[in-house]
Amino acid sequence: MEKLHLSLPSGGYDILIGNCLIDKASQYLNLERKVLVVTDKGVPSDYANSVLKQCKQGSLVCVEEGERSKSFATLQVLLDKMCELKMDRGDCVVAVGGGVVGDLSGFAASCYMRGIDFYNIPTTLLSQVDSSIGGKTAINFNGIKNVIGAFYQPKAVIVDIDLLKTLPKRQILCGLSEAIKMSMTSDEHLFEFFEKSSYQEIIDNFLYVIASCLKIKRHVVQTDEKENGLRKVLNFGHTIGHVIEAQQEKEKLYHGECVALGMKAISNGDVKKRLVSVLQKVGLPTDCVIDKEKVNSFLEHDKKIKNGEVSVVLVEEIGKFRFAKFSVSELAKLTIDEFKGV
Ligand SMILES: NC(=O)c1ccc[n+]([C@@H]2O[C@H](COP(=O)([O-])OP(=O)(O)OC[C@H]3O[C@@H](n4cnc5c(N)ncnc54)[C@H](O)[C@@H]3O)[C@@H](O)[C@H]2O)c1
Repeated sequence: MEKLHLSLPSGGYDILIGNCLIDKASQYLNLERKVLVVTDKGVPSDYANSVLKQCKQGSLVCVEEGERSKSFATLQVLLDKMCELKMDRGDCVVAVGGGVVGDLSGFAASCYMRGIDFYNIPTTLLSQVDSSIGGKTAINFNGIKNVIGAFYQPKAVIVDIDLLKTLPKRQILCGLSEAIKMSMTSDEHLFEFFEKSSYQEIIDNFLYVIASCLKIKRHVVQTDEKENGLRKVLNFGHTIGHVIEAQQEKEKLYHGECVALGMKAISNGDVKKRLVSVLQKVGLPTDCVIDKEKVNSFLEHDKKIKNGEVSVVLVEEIGKFRFAKFSVSELAKLTIDEFKGV
């Protein structure tokens, strides 16, 4: 097991990474109080049940799976339950799920009685390498992603690698896309590991992959908790990725797949060649079809746009990055030239 500590002025927390950890959660988390365990219908029920068994006063809320649960209606279900259980400021919420469950239940914990303890047990690769640490919690509103939320740090995070055994390969690949992203901007050795390893070797070395990503994210969060600067590095590949994602109907391409395409579009030369070879090897897409006429209008709605310019992350050498500004038309051209039209 590996233990990382994330330090912040408001107080830090431990991140435990290893195998068979969920069955021992009570050794690491204070479950001697009222505990609301939150999960979703797509997460194997054994995981939340394992935590519940370790609580004397545990209750469960199981929400619908998918992005639609990051809503006011589902937030209200959680808050109703917390009121019904008469939870007080000494009680806690435990998320057992991917980024959806983590973002939603973290936000519920931040609002209830102005904030009660929150623990995160991420069950997808994306949430294990990225979303479970750093304190971003949110729901979607009026069709805008993550627009209502809070920075609210967990009290501890348990990353149990065994939970990934039930995760479909496509979801594994989405998490891997974010891990490749972090290696490209910040960890040359991790990227080289992706280059030289087969898909199976990557899976067999999840402890190394996940711990490396969490170290990168920990540094980013410790340096820039509220995303005033460095934390934007995590958006590498996301601007063009979002343009592709916004065009998808019925989630034809998942977020991580769009990020892979976005990273490819914004990269050049040798970096691009090396990235494409890693993406192809693991099975992430390197090409897609877009509606070229819609690219400009999607880019114009990007949250990061200011005075017609979009701030993006560039990787010109593996393991290093810089921030750059592009006009909407420059980015639109890059996107349009990169992919096939409908
Ligand atoms: N807070 C942050 O810093 C941050 C960062 C990145 C992304 N996010 C958010 O994360 C969300 C996406 O998270 P995600 O990719 O984890 O998706 P997700 O939470 O929707 O999970 C993906 C699917 O996998 C299922 N699942 C989860 N764990 C499983 C397991 N172990 N075995 C089998 N099935 C399992 C879920 O039921 C779901 O259907 C988005 O809402 C995004 O906005 C947040």
